Amino acid sequence: MDPTTLFAAAAIAAAGGCVPLAHRRLQLSLAKHPSLAGHAKMARRLSRLIPGYAYGEEQFFGADGAAAETQARRRAGFRRLAELYRERYARSAALTAQAREALSDLQFTGAYRVPFQFSRYVREHLALGSFVRESAGVTVTDLDGNVFYDLTGSYGVNVFGVDFYKACIDEAADLARPLGPVLGHYHACVAANVERLRAISGLDEVSFHMSGTEAVMQAVRLARYHTRRTHIVRFTGAYHGWWDDVQPGPGNPLAPRATYSLKEMDERTLRVLATRRDIACVLVNPVQALHPNANPPADSALVDGSRAARFDRAAYTAWLRELRRVCSERGIVLIFDEVMVGFRLARGGAQEYFGVAADLVTYGKTLGGGLPVGVLCGRRELMKRYREDRPADVCLARGTFNSHPYVMAAMHVFLQRLESPALRAAYEGLDERWDGRAARLNAMLAEADLPVRVANFSSIWTIVYTVPSRYHWMLQFYLRAEGLLLSWVGSGRLIFTINFPQHDFDEVCRRIVAAAQAMRADGWWDAPAASNKAIRRGLLLEMLRQRF
Ligand SMILES: Cc1ncc(COP(=O)(O)O)c(C=O)c1O
Repeated sequence: MDPTTLFAAAAIAAAGGCVPLAHRRLQLSLAKHPSLAGHAKMARRLSRLIPGYAYGEEQFFGADGAAAETQARRRAGFRRLAELYRERYARSAALTAQAREALSDLQFTGAYRVPFQFSRYVREHLALGSFVRESAGVTVTDLDGNVFYDLTGSYGVNVFGVDFYKACIDEAADLARPLGPVLGHYHACVAANVERLRAISGLDEVSFHMSGTEAVMQAVRLARYHTRRTHIVRFTGAYHGWWDDVQPGPGNPLAPRATYSLKEMDERTLRVLATRRDIACVLVNPVQALHPNANPPADSALVDGSRAARFDRAAYTAWLRELRRVCSERGIVLIFDEVMVGFRLARGGAQEYFGVAADLVTYGKTLGGGLPVGVLCGRRELMKRYREDRPADVCLARGTFNSHPYVMAAMHVFLQRLESPALRAAYEGLDERWDGRAARLNAMLAEADLPVRVANFSSIWTIVYTVPSRYHWMLQFYLRAEGLLLSWVGSGRLIFTINFPQHDFDEVCRRIVAAAQAMRADGWWDAPAASNKAIRRGLLLEMLRQRF
């Protein structure tokens, strides 16, 4: 039993007469995931206690107690990598260093590419470039003229390839130019967008916002307004944007008071939903199907080899069906947050892919045709922002730039093109294609006896590791040296365009294998045997020593 559950059980014993209340508290505790990700308050408190410290050169290469000869190989490999970076990425790295001083985001992402103990040394020696100048097909070119395969997927926006979005934006500019940036009235294409979105979502009404985060905010606000209930349920580890109420853990200084973080794919969560009266809505981010109840994988958290991922379509479908049933029975609004997976899994998004209908659905990212957007679709009675019988009781939603003519025009072109035979065809056999690609790459990695594998949810991938190690995060730097561009979360998330050409994919596979071979040759995976548990215990002790 985890500490919170124990505490709740003790509270019940002490509560005496207040059994129903205490029982509901126990139910809530049981529905929390036992990991830190499932205990947001505790995680936030702990995050404030973890001391900041950085490894010097010796610890950097020998944090796992590797032999002197291994450490020497690592040192030589790291120097070679640093030299290669210095030469190859000189311009891009120089502008990055200059801009970092005043570009807060760059400071943050730069600091959190690897576990914090290693971060300073990496920053001091590996000159990473964050500036790029052009893109074409499935590649991006940096300021030095290096061409990378783009595995970032532009945070998921890029479903059909950069050239597709460039064309959407160009055509949109022509369409929107006569009106220009006039706000407050609509460009005619907005009406057409609404009709297409109604057809795609199977829902009655649409509202436009400026980001996925805002679409989620509006979905939750409407759910609270119509149910007159306070609380939202989000599942452990799921990302729904950076708004306070959906970010209960570290990263948000203020603990939300009306958010329950519950275990996904768990009977006890259904029990909570079936018995509590304060729950307005449940938020589902279907990307979690790849790693239920875990935070989005990032290499800054890759302190050992325990990252795990496996998508089970049948099991997740069954879960969503159960969720749908309980939400319908209890009048809880079921929200699918499809900002990431909408238009990627299927034309009709997760609703179509899993065959489960939601009450409200959020979209964003790719739907803007390359421009920033958030969209909410929903059932008519849930989308209404006022009450005829209580005219002062309204539910506000504003946003200066919502329905911006250029964004609406880009969305218009996107939705138009989505109906073309070419794009319809892109969805055919999607899972078979991407599952087959993942299986082939895994076979290549196994054949080469490398401790690296991939797990995928259609075209969204993550790299997992078959052995414990403190250095798996190094792989991202070898991948870059092979001309593979990852986002700042490193090997945690690779996002492909769904129409990624086969010959380019074959080349990506060859490079992933080459990167892992180079990393192995440099000794990063040669270490005295230690389990993941032992690694984590050692780290905990190290942090305690640092603190006291
Ligand atoms: C599922 C989900 N919801 C919401 C958001 C937030 O969208 P935005 O970054 O446009 O605010 C994201 C962003 O990654 C997301 O993946």
